[in-house]
Amino acid sequence: MSRLQERPRHFASDNYSGICPEAWTALAAANHGHDTSYGDDGWTQKAADLLRQIFEADCEVFFVFNGTAANSLALASLCQSYHSVLCHELAHIETAECGAPEFFANGSKILLLPGANGKMSAADVEHAVRRRDDIHYPKPRVLSLTQATEVGTVYSAAELQALTGTARRLGLNVHMDGARFANAVASLGVAPKEITWQAGVDVLCFGGSKNGIGLGEAVVFFNRELAAEFDYRCKQGGQLASKMRFLSAPWVGMLQDGAWLRHAAHSNAMAKRLEGALRDLPGVEIVFPVESNAVFAEMPAAVREGLLARGWKFYTGVITPEESRLMCSWDTTPEDVDAFAADLRELLA
Ligand SMILES: Cc1ncc(COP(=O)(O)O)c(C=O)c1O
Repeated sequence: MSRLQERPRHFASDNYSGICPEAWTALAAANHGHDTSYGDDGWTQKAADLLRQIFEADCEVFFVFNGTAANSLALASLCQSYHSVLCHELAHIETAECGAPEFFANGSKILLLPGANGKMSAADVEHAVRRRDDIHYPKPRVLSLTQATEVGTVYSAAELQALTGTARRLGLNVHMDGARFANAVASLGVAPKEITWQAGVDVLCFGGSKNGIGLGEAVVFFNRELAAEFDYRCKQGGQLASKMRFLSAPWVGMLQDGAWLRHAAHSNAMAKRLEGALRDLPGVEIVFPVESNAVFAEMPAAVREGLLARGWKFYTGVITPEESRLMCSWDTTPEDVDAFAADLRELLA
């Protein structure tokens, strides 16, 4: 029995939530009789086809267990060991993957760029690439973008195009960490192609777990050449699921009737509701624009402690020591948001 029972839902992470009904139903449907293994099954084929359909592209698709593996193996496919990967200084590949991208890419170096609201600028990318061109510097070869960003902001299609245009001109491949890609699509209201291959993205790591799937991410190569032998990379990296249908079937459940977008839009809306409830409270400051399913707020330490004492779970210090990160999930309810905000108001008073 979970220790978190005293409150049904929390704001600590969009990973705290369970499996959404659409993914669960598909998982149960896949659990009948025997089926072929290692991805050679109908569910995996159907999930990959649905991804090709929603991206309107003949992309190569692979299903892996988690985001760290998706990012690391994808990045390893885009560069050699003597290359470097440019990313924002808050990027998950830098701060939360235990060096896995460097490990799987055999030592490729990650170069960090600053940028307000978790976003890089084309000028900073250009500067980082042009700063050095001598043999002693790890040659920049990849630009890695997170969409939605680690602070819950979202790159617009135009911002992406400026970045990827610069990347192309400078000979960089483009990787997108899309752990919350669904939230970004729902936030922008664009066709998925507009912020991926049409915006110059070569490979997208499309997050499933934060969107309502139990586990698993899809690695989507729009540049098929870069996918060469990726299946071997997955196998060597321990990411080739023997019973692949249980990774892929939930994607069918999510994609076939648009549940992925509905759930993302819902979690974004809950974040907006939370922002609305907190924004004007004295002593509370919203520190980043709320554009997806995250609210970052600073509040007095005693209030923070009080909320924790009342059984709410959330993280503090993800970005800076002061701010608390409040994540909404596919199953966050308006009542959860209102109850949290009411407790916060009481504690402030
Ligand atoms: C931006 C981002 N990328 C990737 C991931 C995936 O990480 P994991 O390896 O835990 O699935 C996360 C999870 O928190 C994330 O926030």
